[in-house]
Amino acid sequence: MEMYQLNDGFDLPKVGFGTYRLNGTAGARRIGSALNIGYRLIDSAFNYENEGVVGQAIKNSSVPRDQITVTSKLPGRHHHYQEALETIQESVTRMGLDYLDLYLIHWPNPQKDLYVEAWQALIDAQRWGWIRSIGVSNFLPEHIERLEKETGVLPAVNQVELHPFFNQAEQRKFDASKKIITEAWSPLGRANDLLQNETIKEIATTHHKSIVQIILRWHLQLGVVPIPKASHVSRQQDNLAIFDFTLSNEEIATINQLSRADGRTFDQDPARYEEF
Ligand SMILES: NC(=O)c1ccc[n+]([C@@H]2O[C@H](COP(=O)([O-])OP(=O)(O)OC[C@H]3O[C@@H](n4cnc5c(N)ncnc54)[C@H](OP(=O)(O)O)[C@@H]3O)[C@@H](O)[C@H]2O)c1
Repeated sequence: MEMYQLNDGFDLPKVGFGTYRLNGTAGARRIGSALNIGYRLIDSAFNYENEGVVGQAIKNSSVPRDQITVTSKLPGRHHHYQEALETIQESVTRMGLDYLDLYLIHWPNPQKDLYVEAWQALIDAQRWGWIRSIGVSNFLPEHIERLEKETGVLPAVNQVELHPFFNQAEQRKFDASKKIITEAWSPLGRANDLLQNETIKEIATTHHKSIVQIILRWHLQLGVVPIPKASHVSRQQDNLAIFDFTLSNEEIATINQLSRADGRTFDQDPARYEEF
């Protein structure tokens, strides 16, 4: 697996595996097969209610623990400093691991306005060795600027909704200017009509690849880390087979033109939308 270097010196795999809705024994099996196939970045969250089976899949896997980057996220209802610390401890314990590699604030919830306090908890948990790298999710530039101003610590990662229908050009530029790696959630648009798009289909035919592989390669060439979720082993494999071809600058530009201001899958604009 190819890696990026984070602004804190640690490595981050260039492609990850999403686990939303992978729960229970079946979920553990699917996460286990992803590890077997070669995924080394696993994305979870306190709110997915699957930290237990993610940890179990990691424990049962033959892949050494230190080669896996496991992520979880702090839910909006626990942004108060002390609650945030306890939630991080709960995440680590549920996973059955000694530490987590990456912990993100799941949503900024700006109306509640407690995300700076939550960030201070992540900074301290990192200092105490409970988590290795710290980051955010769904943070807009103004939220990140506030973290920097009030704590002096920038996130290593910002995980945002990003796919060809909503390509986040401005946010990516901002993240890059702060040496923050952008991760893409719903990188396949949750398998909506994006996967039937005629423009991408034409590019796929040229390269003898699938539409999904073209989309994931586009993410890779933008310097973004996609974390596609796939239940089926064959799809998990296909989604990693993106390192043996290159899209031209024209093809990248053509896909970039598909982005629309209203291209979010469920209109979850972090300036207004809050999640707890
Ligand atoms: N931070 C946040 O606020 C946030 C929000 C949403 C998601 N996430 C994270 O991002 C991850 C990915 O996003 P997502 O799960 O919403 O959507 P996604 O990865 O864009 O799409 C998942 C869908 O694509 C299908 N799929 C995967 N590979 C395929 C292939 N090769 N061919 C055809 N279909 C394929 C999957 O089907 P099957 O599963 O049936 O195989 C599933 O229905 C989540 O699992 C979660 O970890 C984070």
